[in-house]
Amino acid sequence: MRLFISATNIRPITRIASRRSPGCSTIAGQDLPGFRDQTLAYFAVMHALMTKLLPLQAVAFGLPADYLVNHEGFKPMNCTLRLLNYPPRVTENQGQYGIGPHTDFGYCTLLAQAKKPGLEILTKSGEWVQAPAHDGMLLYNNADLLQRWTNDRWRSAPHRVFNLEGDERYSIPFFISPRWDVQLECLPTCQSADDPPKYRPISRAEYQAELKRTVYELPGKGS
Ligand SMILES: [Fe+2]
Repeated sequence: MRLFISATNIRPITRIASRRSPGCSTIAGQDLPGFRDQTLAYFAVMHALMTKLLPLQAVAFGLPADYLVNHEGFKPMNCTLRLLNYPPRVTENQGQYGIGPHTDFGYCTLLAQAKKPGLEILTKSGEWVQAPAHDGMLLYNNADLLQRWTNDRWRSAPHRVFNLEGDERYSIPFFISPRWDVQLECLPTCQSADDPPKYRPISRAEYQAELKRTVYELPGKGS
């Protein structure tokens, strides 16, 4: 079961479940009393957390603390919450992915996950390692647009999931992305004469279209 919540602004959250995401549940607010309110409250807290992280990131890039918060790309910030369930592992499906290797498309992801092994991250040296899952902690993951924005200074690490156990596994990713229509140029502090921009300026919409062509289309099928 997957529940998908998306909003470009925390106040007018109007969509719970999405027709774009096959398998999405529409149980929120219907079958589980309090579930919708709890989920929306969680969404609001995560949104607030990200607005506190953006100034820290800006400072880490050598930029004014309000640079990202005031960037057009985050007016508004685009956030998506997914509630993911991985079915118990069964021997017939040994080796089958819960989620195959991929990088996240947007800016970054904040992940709450069950205290169970399953999420693996590919290191720069090509080794898959188990991601830590500690009590009371969220896992932070850079996504593709952040890697491009920082000229590869921050890496969007490939990751994958196996449910290694015989019972259910849950994780709750909160995806943060910039606005669809804003061009992201290499950050001024992430380039120099010796390290010019590696990527052309691109909007989230253009990048997603590019990914669709390279990831989803079959050879020889065209668009
Ligand atoms: Fe991911």
